[in-house]
This record gives sequence, structure tokens and C-alpha cells, in this order.
Amino acid sequence: MKSNSCSKPFTTIAPYYDRLMSFVNYSSWVSYIEKIIKLNNIDERCIFDVACGTGVCLELWVERGYNVFGLDRSFEMLQVCQKKLSGRENVLLLSGDMRNFSLARQVPVITCLYDSLNYLLTEAELLSCFRCVRRALRDDGVFIFDMNTIHSLRDEWGNNSFQRRDEGLFSVWTNTFNPIENVSSLNITLHARRNGEEFEMSEFHQERGYQLTVIAALLRDAGFSGELYRHLTFVPATELDLRIMGVWRK
Ligand SMILES: C[S@@+](CC[C@H](N)C(=O)[O-])C[C@H]1O[C@@H](n2cnc3c(N)ncnc32)[C@H](O)[C@@H]1O
Repeated sequence: MKSNSCSKPFTTIAPYYDRLMSFVNYSSWVSYIEKIIKLNNIDERCIFDVACGTGVCLELWVERGYNVFGLDRSFEMLQVCQKKLSGRENVLLLSGDMRNFSLARQVPVITCLYDSLNYLLTEAELLSCFRCVRRALRDDGVFIFDMNTIHSLRDEWGNNSFQRRDEGLFSVWTNTFNPIENVSSLNITLHARRNGEEFEMSEFHQERGYQLTVIAALLRDAGFSGELYRHLTFVPATELDLRIMGVWRK
């Protein structure tokens, strides 16, 4: 068996990401967001997905007739995304950092999904991202995101190791939680086959959990007002939720 040393996040696993996430019901996420778009009377069918990854949601939006923009800093994830959306019209992919970006024009809806904001490890980075999002958002626009809670990183991931098999892909997820910084360090080891030969690859990831009051204060500091909800609901979020949604306006 061949083995690679530990790589940076979202590099070597990029071609396998969609299989690893095959258990996620992205289409229900998109339907929930579309409901929010309608509730906000936003007619322009245009979405900007920050940290779009391999573009699973972008593809769903395109299928629903939306123009899409995607931004990610991982070249490898964007490569998969580009391939997935090649030949589709009204798609613009940007290579960039969500802590420091700008768009040529303002858009009505900005999303940031599936833990992406937890990858920002300081409050200053989170604030910086929120400020960029606000600048890129139309005055009547809406910013919709999800985040893992501290409860999720501390009590679900904790110091546990999980083995998974997703569409035949075997992986081991080993977590270590730092309770002082609320940071979960995660080693993902993936066993895959290439040209008939089995090989192993590892990536090191870190996610930080933030108290809900801190997330809300940073959003207000960036000039937003809005609510935090339990994931995919309109029930106010609590620290006991595993994943929360934010729906914020300028
Ligand atoms: C867990 S994946 C989620 C991808 C996608 N949003 C989804 O729902 O499948 C996190 C993504 O955040 C991106 N990311 C992490 N930090 C970033 C940063 N500072 N700027 C831009 N993208 C970042 C990673 O490259 C990765 O594609």
C-alpha cells in the first residue's frame, strides 16, 4: 500500500470530497435557502457561494435556473467544481480567500455552507469575512450560512475517532478537541484505489466553534442584523444545537 504524508486541507481529498459527503442532503439545504429568498422577496435569481468547494450546491442552483458565483481558496476543490460545471452558462468561479475578497458587482444572496466559517480560527478572521460579505451584498440582500456549534465540536467530535464508508470509500476521522480555544483538530485518513493499487492519504483540518453571542456580535459589528436558527429550521438557535443557520441582512 502506498501512503502520502499529511497534506493541507482540501488538497488530496478534493477528488473524493463528493463521495465523502454523499450522505449530505444538499438539495434540502438549497430548498430551505430558496424559501428564505422568497420570504425576502428577492426576485433576481443569483447566488454567490463563498467557500463553494466542489460546487455541489452551485450545480443545484444552476439546475434551478440561478446565475452563480463561487469562491474558494483551494485550487484542487475549484478544479473539481470547474469540471462539474463546465459547459454550464452563467457560472463564474473565483479563486480567493473568504477573509479578504471583493466582487465587481453586488449580489442579492450570499451563502457560506457546511462548516466553511468554522475554518476561520480567530474572531478577527470571522469579522473580516463578514465585512467582505457585507460589501458584496446588495442593500436588500441576504446572507445565509451554517456553522458547527461548540457543542458539536466538543461533545460529538470530541476526542473521538470515527470510521466511515461512503460509496465504498473507507476513511478514518480522528478528532482532538482543545477546550481552551474551542478548536477541533481533525486528521482524515482516506483509503482509496488508483490504477488497481490501494493507497492512503491524510489531511489535517482545524475548525473552531464560537459562542452564538460572539457570532451575532461579530455580524452586528460588520453591519448586519438578523437571526441564528437551528439548522434548516426557523427555531431560534441554542448552544445545544449541533449546527446552526444564520440569516442576516444589511
Ligand atoms: C467543508 S468544505 C465545504 C465546501 C462547500 N461549501 C460544501 O458545502 O460542500 C469547506 C470549504 O471551505 C474552503 N475554505 C476554507 N478556508 C477558506 C478561506 N479562508 N477562503 C476560502 N475558502 C476557504 C475550503 O477550501 C473548502 O472548500
